[in-house]
Amino acid sequence: MRKAVYPGSFDPVTLGHLDIIERSARMSDWLIIGVLNNNSKTPLFSVEERVNMLKKMTSHLPNVEVKSFGGLLIDFMRANGADVVIRGLRAITDFEYELQMAQTNRVMAPEIDTVFLTTNLKYSYLSSSIVKEIAYYDGDISEFLAPEIAECVREKMSERKKNG
Ligand code: PNS
Repeated sequence: MRKAVYPGSFDPVTLGHLDIIERSARMSDWLIIGVLNNNSKTPLFSVEERVNMLKKMTSHLPNVEVKSFGGLLIDFMRANGADVVIRGLRAITDFEYELQMAQTNRVMAPEIDTVFLTTNLKYSYLSSSIVKEIAYYDGDISEFLAPEIAECVREKMSERKKNG
């Protein structure tokens, strides 16, 4: 059984992520979406909220599971018996960081390989950070996120602004 992990922050999940999830779910027997629980970053959404949003968006995919993880990705992979990491590559600017992560992970865990999927051209410019910036200034984010997720982002942003 080919078990893969698609790790990320998913703060929030974008249409670009969903495209990678659907395509990688077709290529693996079992796909775990690993949502990073990193205390040193201050995400817009809590890890539980990010996991729940991803569960909702992937409920139509029978071989996809969503879990959070902390610590090293390779430890999460080993604990789940997975040996393929999936990452999306948008542009050449992603390459250096992605190569560094993939090479480092391979030194630490030679049995684990990283597979890169080139993102759909439609989403090659898209990032969660840009979406959050647009939402912060009340711009239209409906082209970038599923409608339910866009609603969550708008709500969260207005809460944030109210509370300073
Ligand atoms: O969506 P992101 O923020 O680009 O995802 C980055 C992620 C979660 C894949 C990366 O930060 C990660 O794997 N973090 C876990 C810690 C780890 O294993 N670090 C060593 C990788 S070289």
